[in-house]
Amino acid sequence: MTKKVAETFFWHYHFTKTIFPNSYLTQINPTDGKGIEDVRREYCDTCSSQVFSISQKASIVIYNLIHSLKPPVILDLGSGFTTWLCYYSIGNSTNTTIISVDSSNDWIAKNENFLTKHHIKTTISNYKTFEKSPPYLPSGSLIINDIGDPDNFILRESSLHLLTEYIKNGAILFLDDIHKPRVKAAALQLIHDNNFYFQDLCSITFDNFGRYSWLIFSKPNES
Ligand SMILES: C[S@@+](CC[C@H](N)C(=O)[O-])C[C@H]1O[C@@H](n2cnc3c(N)ncnc32)[C@H](O)[C@@H]1O
Repeated sequence: MTKKVAETFFWHYHFTKTIFPNSYLTQINPTDGKGIEDVRREYCDTCSSQVFSISQKASIVIYNLIHSLKPPVILDLGSGFTTWLCYYSIGNSTNTTIISVDSSNDWIAKNENFLTKHHIKTTISNYKTFEKSPPYLPSGSLIINDIGDPDNFILRESSLHLLTEYIKNGAILFLDDIHKPRVKAAALQLIHDNNFYFQDLCSITFDNFGRYSWLIFSKPNES
C-alpha cells in the first residue's frame, strides 16, 4: 500500500467509525489504577522491564475495555503484565475465559511463576500450539496483541493474519506499538484488505516511550 493510500484510509476510518464515543474514552480513569500501577512496577522490577511491558496508560484502557465489553474470551497474545491485568480485570467473574499465549518457553515459565505468586493458577500456551490449532473465540471477544520481540515485530506482524477470521467473527483487537512503522503498516493493510474499522487510542495510550495503541474491529457501534 502506498503512503498516500495508507493515509487516506487512516483519516477515513479514524473519523467515521468507532467502538466508543470519544467522550467515553476521555473519562477513562479507574479508581483501581493505583493497584494496577503497584503490581506493574513490581512486575517491571522483578520479571521484565518498562520497555518490554505494556504501558501503564494502555493497562488502564485495557482494564476499562474489559469492564465495558465483558468479553466472553480474552486472547492475551504476548504474555506478561497483560496476563496479570486480564485476571485482575475480570475479578471473580466466571463469564470470561482468558487464553494467554507466548512464543518463548523460558518467558512462559517466568510469567507463570509471577502469576502463581499473585495467586493466579494458569497455564500459558506456546505460540506454535496456538498457531496449529487456534481456539474458538465467540463474537465480542477481546484480543490483546503485544506479542514478540519489541526490537523487530516480525511475529506481531505475522500474527495479524491469524487474527483476521477472529475479527471478521466479531472479536475486537487491541493492537499495541502502533508507533512502530512496521506495525502501523501491517495494521493498515489488515484494515484495508478486510474493510475493518479502527479507533485510534493515541490520545489516551501515548506514553513516555512514544508508544500507543489502536482498536481494530469489523462491527462498529453505529449509535
Ligand atoms: C513484548 S513482551 C509483552 C509482554 C506482555 N504483554 C506484558 O505486558 O508484559 C513479550 C515478549 O517479549 C520478550 N521479553 C519480555 N521481557 C523481556 C525482557 N526483559 N528481556 C528479554 N525479552 C523479553 C519475551 O520473550 C516475550 O515473548
